[in-house]
Amino acid sequence: MKNKSLVSINDYSKEEQLRVLEVAKEFEANPVQTILKDHVIASLFFEPSTRTRLSFESAISRLGGKIVGFSEAANTSVKKGESLRDTILTIANYSDLIVMRNPVEGSARFASEISPVPIINAGDGSNQHPTQTLLDLYSIIKTQGTLDNLHVGFVGDLKYGRTVHSLVIALCNYNTTFHLVSPVELKLPSSVKMHIKEKNLTYHQYTQMDEVIPNVDTLYMTRIQKERFSDPLEFERIKDSYNLHKDMLHTTKDNFRILHPMPRVNEIHVNVDADPRAYYFQQALNGVYVRQALLAIMLGLR
Ligand code: CP
Repeated sequence: MKNKSLVSINDYSKEEQLRVLEVAKEFEANPVQTILKDHVIASLFFEPSTRTRLSFESAISRLGGKIVGFSEAANTSVKKGESLRDTILTIANYSDLIVMRNPVEGSARFASEISPVPIINAGDGSNQHPTQTLLDLYSIIKTQGTLDNLHVGFVGDLKYGRTVHSLVIALCNYNTTFHLVSPVELKLPSSVKMHIKEKNLTYHQYTQMDEVIPNVDTLYMTRIQKERFSDPLEFERIKDSYNLHKDMLHTTKDNFRILHPMPRVNEIHVNVDADPRAYYFQQALNGVYVRQALLAIMLGLR
């Protein structure tokens, strides 16, 4: 795994993914170290982010590393027309590893093919978000005690949701039963369903989430993403499709937990936040430990 880019969750085998989760446990127990003191990590965010960018930067800082980069390309030479190729080749001179979020699907793969230093895909358009998946797997293990044989509900934008795509693919390794809740316009793409079918796993599709809540172990809520719609009227029509409210949680399994990659808009009412089954803020914290583990492994320090 040393120096191997992480662009798609499938770049890591099941065993490699589990190794990241094992090392994350070590960092959770001991998050402040100096193992990155001789390393510079580039953090290139061409698209907005709160959790991914800042949890990477927190992970790097807590391990004694240095960060170079930007949170918007408008202040860089991209604004003058510089290509992604030239940007990556330049910044690779200044850093040992590049974390990149870019709105263009496939941009992270392209970067990994030309970069002399490893690339971590922090989200490329609606394609993949593999580090989110690793922290989601870590959160599921922490809350369920296992990844095996779970019923997992996915709610919201399953078409454009890159966190959904990566997590569904990863969960196909664990005999998961999938409960897919979305407006008809935002169903999970066939290319992702293909992974479920290849493993002979079961999925059910719904447009309402009420009947799913009592039957799942983990409910993975997602936002309807305004930025993915070319037609604003279509977004307006379906943006309020789901609103999880505490009154909807009267019949759940004992082990039921709610995850959300965040940001949230209105799909989970704030009155759910104090419920012990709401896990999304702890999930975001887990991102620091998982990203510490990933950096340590990719740089050959674990
Ligand atoms: N989960 C996630 O990717 O959040 P940000 O967009 O805030 O990074």
